[in-house]
Formats: sequence, C-alpha cells, structure tokens
Amino acid sequence: MFESETDNCTDTEIDSDTETDTHSLQADAVNSSGSELSTADRPPGPRGLPLIGSTLSIARDPFSFVELAREYGDIVSYRAYGTEFALVFDPHVVETVLVSRSDEFRKGEFETAFGELVAPEGIAFTEDSQWRRQRKLLQSSFTPDHVRAAADEIVAEANAFVDDWDDGERVALRDTMSTYTLRILTRTLFDLPLEDDRATIVRRAANAVNTYASPKRLALGSILPSWLPDRVEHEYEDAMTDLETLTTELVETRRSADSTGEDLLSILARAVYPDGSRLSPETVRDQLVTFLFAGHETTATTLAIACWLLADNPQVHAELERELAAVCGDRKPDAGDLASLDYTEAVLRESMRLYPPITGIYREPPTDTALAGFRISSGTTLQLSVYGIHRDDRWWADPEAFCPERWLVDADRPEYAYFPFGGGPRHCLGMRFAMVELQLALASIMRRVEFECVTPTLEPSLGVTLDPGSVETRVRKR
Ligand code: HEM
Repeated sequence: MFESETDNCTDTEIDSDTETDTHSLQADAVNSSGSELSTADRPPGPRGLPLIGSTLSIARDPFSFVELAREYGDIVSYRAYGTEFALVFDPHVVETVLVSRSDEFRKGEFETAFGELVAPEGIAFTEDSQWRRQRKLLQSSFTPDHVRAAADEIVAEANAFVDDWDDGERVALRDTMSTYTLRILTRTLFDLPLEDDRATIVRRAANAVNTYASPKRLALGSILPSWLPDRVEHEYEDAMTDLETLTTELVETRRSADSTGEDLLSILARAVYPDGSRLSPETVRDQLVTFLFAGHETTATTLAIACWLLADNPQVHAELERELAAVCGDRKPDAGDLASLDYTEAVLRESMRLYPPITGIYREPPTDTALAGFRISSGTTLQLSVYGIHRDDRWWADPEAFCPERWLVDADRPEYAYFPFGGGPRHCLGMRFAMVELQLALASIMRRVEFECVTPTLEPSLGVTLDPGSVETRVRKR
C-alpha cells in the first residue's frame, strides 16, 4: 500500500543526515516590506551528501523524503538539484506566502525554467503587470456561466466512455481518464469537433508537452551529451509547429466580425488591450499550451484515483450510489444537480487530500526575508508541501484513511490545511471548471458502473503532477 511505502524508507543518505544543520547566518536583513529581521537562523534540515545534497533521496522516493524531512520541524532546509529549498509544513506560513505577503514572493527559477521550456508567455509563468493583464483577460473564460455551459459536454463524453466499456472489462484508469479530460479540454479551449483532424493536432501537442517536460526526461537530458539525437524533442517540436500553424489559422477565423465563440481561443483571438494591441499567435499558443498542461493530467489523476479509491472502499462506494440514486434517479446528471451532490464532492475532496495532483507549490523571495522566525535567503526555493500538510495529524484525524465523511461536518483547522488548488491571487484559474468537471464526470460514471480493484495498491510517482501509475479496475455495468 502507498502508506507503507512511505514508512519503509531506510535510505542511507537520509539516515546519515539526521544531524541537524544549525548553520547560523549572523548578518541581519531587511525584508521587502521594510521591517528589520532579527538574526534568524536558516531552518534546520538534512545536510545530504556533499555537492548533490538530498538529490538522490528525492529521486528515489520523494514521498518518503517528505515524511522524513517533516521530523525537522515546520520549515526544513535542504539542498537538491543544485538548488537551496525550504520545505514548508505549516499552513499559517502557506497563508503568509500565498496570501498575506504574496507580493514578496515570485514563482522563482525552479518553476520559470520549466515555463521557458514549454510556454514562456503562459499565465502560469509570468509575473507582475504582464501576469495581471493576462489573468484579467483569461478569467473571463471561467465565469460560473461559462463553466456550467460545459456541463452537457462533460456528461455526454463521460457517458460515451461508459457505453464503450463491456461488462467485466479491465479498464486502465490513468489512460482512460487522461483521454477523457483531454477531449473535454479540446472542446472547451478550442471549440473543435472531437473527430476533426484539427482536434487530433491539439491532443498530439498536449501529449507531446507531457512527455517532453517529464522530470525524468529532463533529469536524464541534463547528463547526456547535447549532440545525441533526441526523438522526444523532435516529436515535441513537430507537434508544436503544427499547433502554432493551427492556432494562427484559428486566430484569423475567430477574429472575424461574426465570430461569437466563448471558448478560450476565441476570447484570446478577439482580445484588444487598452493600448489597442492584440495578442500575437505565439502568445495565444503559449496560453493554450499552459491550459492544456494545467488542466489535463491534474483532473485525469483525480478521477483515476477517486475511482480506484471507490473500488477499494465498498462502504464509500455504496454511500455514493445512494446519493446518485436519490439525486438523479434514472436520468443523467446535469448542472442543476451540482448543489445536491454533496457526497460526490466529498469523495473528490478527500481523494485530492490524500493524493493532491500538485504535491508542492513553489515560490522564491527575490531578497532575503524571514518566515516564522527563520531566515530565508534570496534564491531559496520555498516548497509549500501540499502533500505533507494534507496528511498532517495535527489537522486531520486518522490522516492516512480515505474518509469522505470528514467533509460533511464542520472542523476547526487552519484554512491552508487543505489547498489542492493553491491560494491567494495566483490560485488555480481552472478550479471552478475542474470541480464541475470532476463532480459531473464521477456522477455520470458511477451512476452506471461499479468498479472492482484489479491493481491491489496505489503506487503513485512524481511527475510534474502526481502520476497515479497503472491503476486498473474491472467494470461491472449496472
Ligand atoms: C484537479 C484539478 C486541478 C488542480 C489540483 C489544480 C491545481 C493548481 C494549483 C495548485 C495551481 C497554483 C500553482 C501556484 O500557485 O504556483 C494552479 C494554477 C493554475 N491552474 Fe490549475 N489545477 C487543476 C485544474 C485546472 C484546470 C482544469 C485548468 C484550466 C482548464 C487549470 C488552469 C490553471 C492555470 C491557468 C493556473 C495558473 C494561474 C496563475 O498563475 O494565475 N487548472 N492549478
């Protein structure tokens, strides 16, 4: 089981790290809000090996590393991949970084290096006035009305998947859900018929970005000579060229006077900034790539894991069935049901508590600063541990248990004890869309099938998002 995997680490590097690094920085510093910092220490943490720090431990098992790091306290220093990190386990510090002092922290090099590679102008990677301008423009695509308008498509596509399953069939949930959420995104972002060749270009681009930017490939790329032929890179470049040609063509058509489409591409194509300028096709492409990336595997992982957890927890499965029968009866779910699907929502929230698709959120202070009495030097990457905080027994009773019921009662815990969608000004732009998609897709599927576990245990790994691994279930049609 996943839990025992995290308990098992007898990693020699970490074991040899148990001596706390108490190196103290003597100089005082002033943070960007002008207040003096006392002579604060660097947070304690594992020293790791010379030069590479904790890189090997993390590469071997990042989840065990988090569990062991937590022993050092609520803010933990470590070094890996040539970078200084401060891992945060305190929800109040998360609130400080993401909300109350958000203007003192930037995305930082760790994340922007990734952005540079796939979509430098994409909203997830820009800062300051450029980001504000983009956020204002893009959020007009994610109003409650827009999101609800996608409901019929979400339900119809989920039902089409169920129609294709045979009773007793083994279903590979990760791949199935990945195809499903990509189809939904292709419709929402581009408004292209799914069987159209142009939709195939979009799907090929999304898959190419995921393969190209996978952390394993990037780590390997950093040690292999650059003259070696790289098939993945060629495929990625071809896919991006095709996407750019398609975007240029679609931007032209959607800019025409009679175009009224409300999909993201149409909104970007028609946008005019106050100074009269318009977005170049490259910028439109970068936004679309960002959304394909941000909205594809995140929702697919959540659905795949939620379905597996239901198969593994018959009582929860039965309770969900009861809710779906009471709310939907014999008809398909629709947007009007969302407010009544409380247990469905609780199942999804609990899945994302145990298995947050984004396990850590990264920020960097441009100047030396202080957090919770510790000195954080400029250039340190703050890693807000979504995964660690979501499994902390100070905020969660029996934290390793899958228990949707905990979401049906009021609980007294800090707001940022749960933050799968981040928080503050840069919280997930697609959060509302994701929750509607997840609720309606899960309701549509579970109303018609039961799942039985085939894969006995979940063994997720860390990609850019959490990778659920091979998750197979057997389908029993009702
Ligand atoms: C379960 C599904 C999802 C999860 C868990 C998730 C999680 C997150 C998180 C944690 C962030 C904040 C990152 C940070 O602060 O550094 C984020 C940002 C973002 N997400 Fe999502 N996301 C999901 C689905 C989606 C979907 C469906 C879309 C769009 C279709 C989307 C679009 C975005 C965008 C554009 C940003 C960047 C916002 C900005 O920087 O202003 N996400 N997401």
